[in-house]
Amino acid sequence: MLRIDEIDVYYGAIHALKRLSLEVEEGSIVTLIGANGAGKTTTLKTVSGLLRPKTGRILFNNNDITKIPPEKIVGLGISQVPEGRRVFPSLSVLENLEMGAYLRKDKKAIAADMENVFSRFPRLRERSKQLAGTLSGGEQQMLAIGRALMARPSLMLMDEPSMGLAPLLVKEIFSIIKEINQRGTTILLVEQNANMALSIADKAYVIETGEIVLQGRAQELMNSEEVKKAYLGG
Ligand SMILES: Nc1ncnc2c1ncn2[C@@H]1O[C@H](COP(=O)(O)OP(=O)(O)OP(=O)(O)O)[C@@H](O)[C@H]1O
Ligand SMILES: [Mg+2]
Repeated sequence: MLRIDEIDVYYGAIHALKRLSLEVEEGSIVTLIGANGAGKTTTLKTVSGLLRPKTGRILFNNNDITKIPPEKIVGLGISQVPEGRRVFPSLSVLENLEMGAYLRKDKKAIAADMENVFSRFPRLRERSKQLAGTLSGGEQQMLAIGRALMARPSLMLMDEPSMGLAPLLVKEIFSIIKEINQRGTTILLVEQNANMALSIADKAYVIETGEIVLQGRAQELMNSEEVKKAYLGG
């Protein structure tokens, strides 16, 4: 479904992604794990069109999307849950969710999806009129996921959804991710929480300073000595 083909991405003189290639099969969960500053967010931002690779290309359902602007990419079915739960703080929960569907015109389907989001996250229904900026961190993460779902994506890019959440909520978020996938959405999940990410993913890539250094089935990486040492706390 998604193929990143040898991309190089720069921030000025900084070479942030080096000949990076990665594939996401339709229906799967793929995780990209790596330390701070490895290039995970840069990878997602390049897929969503916010950054342009200098070389290489990105294919989505066999179409070259390398030079397509971000709003068109959303229209093609790729939506992102950004790092640090960027919700619109001065808009209500409801308005944030509506923003997620801003490219859509199918009013009935939008209302149905809104109902789905509310039933998946009852906390958001209770707080639909509350300003998003006053939600707790965990609630904002749920809202960020709900907002991405409102675009009805076929591919969802998630940037560290577990960051800063208490262990119980981390578990809940991961089980929600799994459920979203089981309902038909393909997922590219960026995480530092390698343990949890590998436990729900089909396939995994390890990135270090802009390069993929390891890849394989998630189960295999979980058992790899290299990954255990560097990312799973021994
Ligand atoms: N706007 C920018 N200008 C210059 N350098 C940047 C910019 N954004 C990111 N970088 C650099 O690119 C590298 C990759 O950053 P990136 O945000 O992709 O890392 P990450 O893997 O998402 O890290 P983290 O886990 O901390 O979020 C880092 O060295 C970072 O300092
Ligand atoms: Mg990041």
